Amino acid sequence: MTEAWRPDDDERRGAIGPVRVRVPAKVNLHLGVGPLRRDGYHELNTIYHAISIYDELTARRGDTLALTMEGEGTGELALDDTNLVIRAAHALAGYAGVLPHARLHLRKQIPLAGGLAGGSADAAAALVACDALWGTGLSRDELAGIAADLGSDVPFLIYGGTALGTGRGEAISPVLARPTSWHWVVAIADGGLSTPTAYRELDRLRDSGAAGAPLGSTDALLGALRQRDPRVLARTIGNDLQDAALAMRPALADTLKAGEAAGALTGIVSGSGPTCVFLAANAADAERIAAELTAAGVCREARVAHGPVAGARVG
Ligand code: C5P
Repeated sequence: MTEAWRPDDDERRGAIGPVRVRVPAKVNLHLGVGPLRRDGYHELNTIYHAISIYDELTARRGDTLALTMEGEGTGELALDDTNLVIRAAHALAGYAGVLPHARLHLRKQIPLAGGLAGGSADAAAALVACDALWGTGLSRDELAGIAADLGSDVPFLIYGGTALGTGRGEAISPVLARPTSWHWVVAIADGGLSTPTAYRELDRLRDSGAAGAPLGSTDALLGALRQRDPRVLARTIGNDLQDAALAMRPALADTLKAGEAAGALTGIVSGSGPTCVFLAANAADAERIAAELTAAGVCREARVAHGPVAGARVG
C-alpha cells in the first residue's frame, strides 16, 4: 500500500493561503503625562480609543522575510530590519521558536508620525497576521506581552476598543463604556512630528513653567464614557502633549480653531501630533466639519471616523 501524501510539520500548522489583518489608528482621549522615568520614558495615565482609519497587512508564505508597501508613506518608510513590522515578525518567531519566513504587504492609510500610532498599529497587525500564518496560536495577552517590547502603544492595538493605559502606556486594562459609537473628524497635517521630540519639548516647557496644568485623573472621562452624550464627553477630553505639539507646530492652533468654528464639540491634538481630532455631535456634523476643514486649507486632508472599533483582526 502506498503511503498517502502528508504535509510536513511546517505546512500542517497555520494558514496556507494569504492572511489579511486590518488594524485601526488610535487617539488618546486623555493623555496624562507624568514625570520622566530613569529609563527615558514618561509615566502615563491615558485612555486609548481605536478609530475606523485602518492599515491592512497581508501575510503569505515565503522562503525569507520580506516587506512591501503601498499608500501613506510609501518611499519614506524604510522596509528593512528597522521597520516595526519586520521587528514584530522576528519577535514572534523568536518567542514561538519558528522560522521568521513570510512575504508581508502593507497597505497604509494611517499617516506616518501623525500621533495616530500608525507604526505601532502595523507592528500589532504583523503579530496577529504571522501568528495566524505560522499557526503559533498565541492568545491576545501573549501577543500583547511581545507587543510591549516593540513600543508603548502596540499592546493597545492588539486589543482595540477603549482602554486605560498605564506604565509607559503598555499596561492595558479595558474600560467600562456604553456601546456608543462616537463620531470623529481627523485632520491630517502635512509632514509628521517626532514623538521623542514632543516629550522632550513638554519637559522643557514644564521646567520653564510654560506648560499648562497637568490633566490629572481620568475619572471625569471614564464617567462620560458611561453616558451617551457627546457634549459631556467633549468636556473631559484632553492631552498634556498638546502644548508641546503647538510649540513645535504653531499652525495647529489654526486647525483647532477652524474645527471648533465649524461646529466640532471639541478638538485636540492626537498623541504627539500633528494630527488633530474633533468630536462631532453626529455623523452628518462630522461630514460637514470635515468638508469645512478641507475647504479652509488648515490640513492636508480631513477624514471622518467612528470609534471605538476592534484592534488588529484577521479578515
Ligand atoms: O514606546 P515608543 O517606542 O513608541 O516610544 C517612542 C519614544 O517616545 C520613546 O523613546 C520616548 O522618547 C517617548 N515616550 C516617552 N514616554 C512614554 C512613551 C514614549 O517619553 N510613555
